[in-house]
This record gives sequence, C-alpha cells and structure tokens, in this order.
Amino acid sequence: MFSAFLLSTCILVVRASRPAYSNPHLVAYPSFLNVLPEPFERPNFLTNLFYQTQLPSNAPPEYAAAYQKLQNASFISFDPRFATDVIGSAGPVEKVAVVDDGSQEMPMYLKDEGVIFWNGKDLAQFQTIDVKTYEIKNYTMSVPVPGAAAGTIHKGQIYVGNQGDTTLHGGIWLFDYKTSNATMILNNQLGLSIGADDMTADDHGIFFTDTAARVARTNRTMQSPAALYYLRLSTMSLIAVDPTLVGPNGVVLSPDGTELYVNDDGDIYNPPNNINAQVLTASKGGSTVYINSAGPRTIYAYTLSPSTGLPISRRTVTVLEAGLPDGMKVSSSGLIFAAVFGGVDVYHPDGTRLGRINIPEASPNGQPAEKHVVNLIFEGNNLWCFASGGIYRVPGLLVQGDSRLH
Ligand SMILES: *[C@@H]1O[C@H](CO)[C@@H](O)[C@H](O)[C@H]1NC(C)=O
Ligand SMILES: *[C@@H]1O[C@H](CO)[C@@H](O)[C@H](O)[C@H]1NC(C)=O
Ligand SMILES: *[C@@H]1O[C@H](CO)[C@@H](O)[C@H](O)[C@H]1NC(C)=O
Ligand SMILES: *[C@@H]1O[C@H](CO)[C@@H](O)[C@H](O)[C@H]1NC(C)=O
Repeated sequence: MFSAFLLSTCILVVRASRPAYSNPHLVAYPSFLNVLPEPFERPNFLTNLFYQTQLPSNAPPEYAAAYQKLQNASFISFDPRFATDVIGSAGPVEKVAVVDDGSQEMPMYLKDEGVIFWNGKDLAQFQTIDVKTYEIKNYTMSVPVPGAAAGTIHKGQIYVGNQGDTTLHGGIWLFDYKTSNATMILNNQLGLSIGADDMTADDHGIFFTDTAARVARTNRTMQSPAALYYLRLSTMSLIAVDPTLVGPNGVVLSPDGTELYVNDDGDIYNPPNNINAQVLTASKGGSTVYINSAGPRTIYAYTLSPSTGLPISRRTVTVLEAGLPDGMKVSSSGLIFAAVFGGVDVYHPDGTRLGRINIPEASPNGQPAEKHVVNLIFEGNNLWCFASGGIYRVPGLLVQGDSRLH
C-alpha cells in the first residue's frame, strides 16, 4: 500500500516535470515500421515520400494505417525532442498562398516592414507577403537582378546573390529595401563567370554557393568548379573554400558562429555513369537537371577557425533519404531546418533526424518535376516555407530563428 502510494507519487512528480505530451497534429514514427513485411519497395525513391513505400497486399492493415496517419500529420517525429523542444503546441501547417510552380527563393523577414521578401516566379519576380494579412505585392529593384536565388541580412544590411541570365552575369549585391537601390559588388573572378545560389553572412564577409544550376538559366558554361566561396568584404578577396562539392546549395551559419552548414544536392548536368542509379530529371529554364541517386544529397558541417573564420574541417551531418536538400535555416537553439521533398526536416547538428514538418503536396510524388520546399524563414515563432506551388506557415513553434538575421 505504502510503496504503491510512493510509486504513484513518483510518477506524478515525473509527469509534473515532464508533462505528458500531446499535439493532435503530431505523429511519432512508429517503431514497428523499422521492420517492414517483405517484399516492400520504394520504386521512385528519389521522389516518393517514405510513407508511400509499397507493401505487399497481404501486409497486416496496421502498416497502411500507420502510413496514412503519417501522411496526414503536420508533424512527424523521429525523436521525442522534436515534440518537446521544437513543436510544442504548434500547428497545423497552413497553406497561406498559392504561387506558381517555379522556384521561390531567398525569403528574408523584414521585421520593420512586417513582410517577408522573396523572389518567386522561378526567380523572375521579387515579391513581399504581409505576415499578418498575407497580402502579396510585387517589388521592383532599381536595376534588373536576374536569377536572384540568394539573400541574407547581416547587421541590417541586405545582401543578394544572383545567377544572372543569358545577357547579364550573376554575382553579389548590396540592396536597400526602402530605396530599392541594388548595387552590384562582384560579378566575376578575374574575368571568369560566377553566381550565387544561396548565402549567409558573418561579421567580415559572405559565404555563398556557386553551382551548375545556373548553367540552365544563363546558357553559360561553368568556368570554375561548383564550390563554396567566401567573399571577404574588407579586401574583396574571393576564397574558394570547398570545390569538392558537386552541387552546393543551402548555406547557413550556426547561431554561435562556430559552424557552417552547407548541403550538396548533387545536381549534375550529365547523366550519371552509374547506370543502376535512379535519375530525377527536373526541367529548369528549358534545360534538364539530373539528380543522381548515387550522388550526394548530403548536409555537411564545417568547423570554423576562431582566428580566420574559415573552415578547418568538415563532417557529415546527414544524407537525405530522398530528393535533394535545398535552403536551410537554424533555430536560435542550434537545430538545422532543411527544405526537402515533402516538407522541412529538422536535424540536431550531431546528425539525429528529429522530425519532419510534413507538406506532402510540396513533393514531386513520382513525377519528374522539381516540386519541393525550396526555402524557409522564421518570423518569430512562426516558420514560413516557400515551395514551388505554395507558401506554407507553421504557427507557434517553441523555437525562433537566428537573431543575427534581423
Ligand atoms: C487522413 O485524412 C483523410 C482526408 O482528410 C481522412 O479521410 C482519413 O480518415 C485520415 N486518415 C487518418 C488515418 O488519419
Ligand atoms: C506581379 O508581376 C507579375 C509578372 O512578374 C504579374 O503577372 C502579376 O500580375 C503581378 N501582380 C501584381 C499583383 O501586380
Ligand atoms: C546605392 O547604394 C550604394 C551602395 O550602398 C551607394 O554607394 C549609392 O550611393 C546608392 N545609390 C543611391 C541612388 O542611393
Ligand atoms: C546557348 O548557347 C548556344 C551556343 O553559344 C547557342 O547556340 C544557343 O542559341 C544558346 N541558347 C539560348 C537559349 O540562348
């Protein structure tokens, strides 16, 4: 009697310090799915989502029911910390606008204006969305900035990076939203073409990725390897930080500035040599991007030297199970949020997949098209996801974005 009383008191105490978790929009990935009934298959594994795995017709019904539940959920957790440290009572995911199917890039939250600024219409139209009313407006810069895919705010200064088009080379810009003044600060490296796909700034310069994705938009060959670059602003030194990446894409600093996260989506412009690889062909500006299943779809972490601010080592954070990683952001708590096929994946920097913000319609679902969440941005505790086809808002997360971005 006494010990039972003691036990239930203990349970009460444990429950009080760690409240039983419940969010109707969150489903935990059930552990019984770690062993699937044979024969199972994900035939279009680059474009079909994990809950679309094909199971044998005589599989026990709980498998299909579990997949349906996962597909319906706004949040899928793989680790209990997703619920307790990230999602809380957030949700559900809301679709706040329908946009065209092209790329939607460089979302930046302009706090004083109450808008998120981004480049839509497959990088052809700058736009703003009011974070309260969801009203969308077009925005025109002082001069054309074709194929702008990269943007970040640092100490109140907005930097933009573009890929260019068939007449103008891409590069790096300073941009003043209030006056619409866009000033190019770099469009070549000693005469060779350059472009930016994504960027992040530290106190002394800008890390940006240059990738063959710009070949399709510019009809211009890559004159240097796809690479992660650093532009040191005091001397305008352009440093090739890592030319071993195949298709470097998203780039973001950890909130304490000690690590740099960069992903490699493996975009290549030649069909892969490995004939057994599965290839996703995505049309981009009339050309074809091949995504090779045998190539990287990897998020890396670089440790930055405290003295130079440049990478001294690289480790793998994760290899995505499908598609390609695109834009990334970090929470002020240090977690990595990566735009993927079918939503946004949240990783601990040690590589643990904590969970997915689930947006099934932002996915090619077996079609050879590049439909996915392209980029994302925090607005306070709300996360805005920009996908080809739609803008989605996740209200009321427990985490906020990196405060350096405002
Ligand atoms: C999933 O959502 C569909 C459509 O809203 C609904 O009909 C179905 O009952 C849901 N299934 C589960 C398992 O939640
Ligand atoms: C915004 O610009 C696009 C062309 O880029 C045009 O089709 C659309 O009508 C414009 N929208 C508004 C609200 O002016
Ligand atoms: C535009 O910005 C650049 C760089 O900050 C500055 O040098 C230039 O004077 C500005 N132009 C106008 C018209 O404000
Ligand atoms: C691309 O460049 C090639 C070779 O210079 C040229 O023949 C072709 O017309 C160009 N295509 C476009 C769309 O500009």
